[in-house]
Amino acid sequence: MVRISLSILSLALCGCVRRVASFPSMLDSLPPSLREIVDREHQSIGRIEKRQGQVAPPLNIPPIIVPPIPGLPSINITLPGVVTTGRKAIPDSAHPFAAPGPTDQRGGCPGLNIMANYGYINRNGITDVGELLYAQQEMLGFALDFAAFLVALGVKSSVDPTTLKMSIGTTDSRTSGPLSGLFPQVPGLFSYPAHTKYEVDGSLAYTDECFTSDHSGGHFNSTIWAINVAIAQTYGGLMNIEFNGDARYAAYQRCVSQNPTCTWQFEPQLIFYGGETFTWTSIPSTKEDGTREHATIDVVSTFIGAHDNGDGTYSHVPERLPVGSDGLWYRRSIPLTLGEVGEQGLASISRHPVQFGVNSNGVNTFLVSGTQFSPTMTVNALVCLLVATLNAQTPPTLPGQRIIDALLNAAGIRTTYGC
Ligand code: HEM
Repeated sequence: MVRISLSILSLALCGCVRRVASFPSMLDSLPPSLREIVDREHQSIGRIEKRQGQVAPPLNIPPIIVPPIPGLPSINITLPGVVTTGRKAIPDSAHPFAAPGPTDQRGGCPGLNIMANYGYINRNGITDVGELLYAQQEMLGFALDFAAFLVALGVKSSVDPTTLKMSIGTTDSRTSGPLSGLFPQVPGLFSYPAHTKYEVDGSLAYTDECFTSDHSGGHFNSTIWAINVAIAQTYGGLMNIEFNGDARYAAYQRCVSQNPTCTWQFEPQLIFYGGETFTWTSIPSTKEDGTREHATIDVVSTFIGAHDNGDGTYSHVPERLPVGSDGLWYRRSIPLTLGEVGEQGLASISRHPVQFGVNSNGVNTFLVSGTQFSPTMTVNALVCLLVATLNAQTPPTLPGQRIIDALLNAAGIRTTYGC
């Protein structure tokens, strides 16, 4: 029987407050049409949260029990700590920043890298399901439903079903335990065998797998980041919803015209449209009144580890929290839900709807296939579609499927979104 604290779900689902943020002076010079866009963006940021600097009482999430499979030991998912919610200075003294060492795994997800750099997940980049559930909520202010959904995607792609461990970079035998030999070796999240399971083409700052020597997806690409910086500059230097729509569209065009194996399919790409909304929904620090700082190029660059070399090129450095003038970074005051990310992802693609499919025989041979975007698609329909694909394409092992189901049930995802 899976039990879960109702207070977490009610927090995740609580109402939104509209609020207009003030403009920094650099935005005053924008033409009225762009000012209007940025104004809308600020309203959408402000509506998300307004709880005056409080940290809610800690939530002790009970173990998530995976239904047993004959012949295999039972699996209980336990979190390594008690989760708090609400605006809070991160990191605390137990989690100082440290750059990764030579044997530590890092990959193309800035969120996973930063959680390892501050020790909210294992600093060696070999993490597990419980750590991931804890760290996303405690460090980055994600709601349980969204944290569980991302972990379920990780299980589909790269989690060892006996140890529950995952490498956030390339394949690593440190994910294995005594029973792992019963199943194929799990790939690292950014290794080639995991390509298109979670990691896909068209990143903000990483080279498509097809162009890298080891076919892994975690190689920083200065040219792509420079293109995205230029797009943000057309929006007053903000990496907001308009930026995301344009950046994804530019990535789509680049993929079709340059990547012979370009894969731009609806479900994994919509997850990416959603993932890039983090630039304004969770990366900027939260102010005392609950609204967030602006998603400036500098703020996002610090978080994703893009260092400006000053000559139009960029280098990758370890991901760090973008602290404010008081030297601190503050977590969201209301946790980021799957529904909110879905809403922002759909809004991003609505700016430049594209057809989904794959390059069938080299560049510019794009064949439309699979699910297509519809402007009338609701957040619930999107979430249910994504949930359905968790077990459908490239099905995980039987214990993997059970772990995914236990995560979805514990976070109440099917119930909340009517799947
Ligand atoms: C279980 C947790 C997580 C997993 C397994 C995961 C995995 C991934 C993967 C595989 C990608 C590449 C997506 C693609 O190629 O389509 C990605 C991208 C990304 N992730 Fe995560 N992620 C997790 C949590 C987070 C968190 C907590 C953040 C916090 C901000 C985050 C931020 C991002 C961003 C901004 C991108 C886009 C990067 C880009 O376009 O280059 N992720 N993540």
